Amino acid sequence: MKPNKYFVIDFDSTFTKVEAFDVLADIALKDHPDRESSKKKIADITNLGMEGKLSLRDSIQQRIDLLQPEKRHILSLVSHLKGLVSESFKRNKDFFATHSENIYVISNGFKEFIEPVVTEFGIRKENVLANEFVTDGNGKIIGFDVNNPLSANQGKVEQLKKLNLPGDIYVIGDGYTDYEIKHSGLANKFYAFTENVERESVLAKADHITPSLDEFLYLNKLNTAISYPKNRIHVLLLENVHPVAIELMKAEGFNVETYPAGLDEDELCEKIKNVSVLGIRSKTQVTAKVLENANRLMAIGAFCIGTNQIDLKAATQKGVAVFNAPFSNTRSVVEMAIAEMIMLIRGFYDKSNKMHQGKWDKSAKGSFEVRGKKLGIIGYGSIGTQLSVLAENLGMKVLFYDQEEKLAMGNATKCKSLKELLHESDVVTLHVDGRPTNANIIGKHEFAQMKKGVIFLNLSRGHVVDVNALRENILSGHVAGCAVDVFPYEPISNEEEFISELRGLPNTILTPHIGGSTLEAQENIGSFVPGKLMDYINNGNTSNSVNFPNLTLPTLENAHRLIHVHHNVPGILARINQTLADNGINIVGQYLKTNELIGYVITDINKEYDKEVIKQLRAIEHTIKFRVLY
Ligand code: NAI
Repeated sequence: MKPNKYFVIDFDSTFTKVEAFDVLADIALKDHPDRESSKKKIADITNLGMEGKLSLRDSIQQRIDLLQPEKRHILSLVSHLKGLVSESFKRNKDFFATHSENIYVISNGFKEFIEPVVTEFGIRKENVLANEFVTDGNGKIIGFDVNNPLSANQGKVEQLKKLNLPGDIYVIGDGYTDYEIKHSGLANKFYAFTENVERESVLAKADHITPSLDEFLYLNKLNTAISYPKNRIHVLLLENVHPVAIELMKAEGFNVETYPAGLDEDELCEKIKNVSVLGIRSKTQVTAKVLENANRLMAIGAFCIGTNQIDLKAATQKGVAVFNAPFSNTRSVVEMAIAEMIMLIRGFYDKSNKMHQGKWDKSAKGSFEVRGKKLGIIGYGSIGTQLSVLAENLGMKVLFYDQEEKLAMGNATKCKSLKELLHESDVVTLHVDGRPTNANIIGKHEFAQMKKGVIFLNLSRGHVVDVNALRENILSGHVAGCAVDVFPYEPISNEEEFISELRGLPNTILTPHIGGSTLEAQENIGSFVPGKLMDYINNGNTSNSVNFPNLTLPTLENAHRLIHVHHNVPGILARINQTLADNGINIVGQYLKTNELIGYVITDINKEYDKEVIKQLRAIEHTIKFRVLY
């Protein structure tokens, strides 16, 4: 770094996450009867001062009068503040040590608590410019050094003038007094630091808004602790995704934009251009055309189960990883199945309807317990296996049939054929996936193989059952009752009429595809998908990705991680390794996985290397995407 760049950093709410006086209030007023009201007054005074609405000396004196702090309180404050240093300052500790000659902490706070905190980062004692307390000799703080320019308005300006620094001055802070330095003409640039607080009046005056120290360092081409400032990762969340997802992505430091509705293809083509991460639900169509415009896009989060709305092939070829929430609503579907089979086997649904018409039909005829009955589960995946466990807990005997080899849960019995399951079961429930070959897997022939009086449930996909055959079997009484949540054709909106052969049938529960629709499931999806997206962005992990080869990687420690996505053609790994070898780079760890379209290579290397190698790796033929993580 050239010696003539100086960095002037504010302390309260910039170097640390908090206003030191607020913390001091907690400590000094711990056992005070008017604790809460005094704390509120302190916060108000601080804010008025920050906004330039109260003279600084008045504000300091008023706060000291309210707090009546003692030296022992300051000691406790220091240990608190050490734990409250801003996250981006903590991770960029090297910056302070490397540039210690050129860094000044200038604050209207007090040396007694600032110095011990910042000197731990390598900042020089003599570069800490702040106020000083006056004590009564018995450890009680009674005032402050009124001759110190920093206790007066425009104090930071005066102080900096005195220093007469021979070079460019960059100021980072969250308050108006920090801006004043720039305003006075002393500083070249003022960076409003918003990691902890945002003050409108200050933001409006800033040359740059820096949500973290990473951003400040990145802008000034200084070494950063992380490869890319997170605030530069633009996340676009559409279709009202759950607020928990928004919170999680914001807390990670991403720049999050939300949209209540979906966007049509043209709107999305325009909007996607500067988006790094896209979050959608089931309505937004991510077509090949949208992806053509998505030049910065790294990942798509489908905040739902299905991913049919995304052109997965185009996404893969573009090097965009797609994640969804495959098990977030599993439990909700299982609870619905349990509830419905009990409702149906007791005939509750029809009995309740009759009551609404004034009919009292008290009888045990056709009513059974589920205990001891045989439940036949077709499709023993996430939902099927969960249902198996819960149904056994109700005392049911579970049989299952899956076309793949599956581990039986608890005491469940695997059936060798669908026919065997249909023959044996008192309740038959479908939990297969919606692949096209599953169309009408339950039809006339299969109903005929079921026991007379069977209860039938379909909560999986509409096209897997021949609905006419189901209707006939209900009307004939061969099937004693059924619950259907999914239909070959489902209305697009709540305004459209639901038309089906199943309407009006006895002991038939019809629901509008709500098996997975619970608030818990929505919240699970809201937290699961961001977890996957962040793990991909921050570590390169692709476990559970729908379209990328699944790699679960070790946490990156003391190394740089090269992430290379390429078309799946022979020889790329060899080219990567040759390039690294030519540059004398030591590989710490390497992981490769491919699918039919792409190869995904992760290479962890020692931190010291010539950055030229990055250009060479990026230039390897068939590279789709390349990034470096640290
Ligand atoms: P999954 O993929 O974990 O399990 C499906 C299982 O069915 C797999 O084990 C597969 O091998 C098996 N299978 C597929 N075709 C088969 C066949 N012809 N015969 C026998 N086994 C077959 O899926 P998950 O999460 O358990 O979901 C199951 C179904 O539930 C899916 O169709 C899904 O769309 C649906 N679903 C419905 C919801 C609703 O709101 N009603 C909510 C969530 C899921």
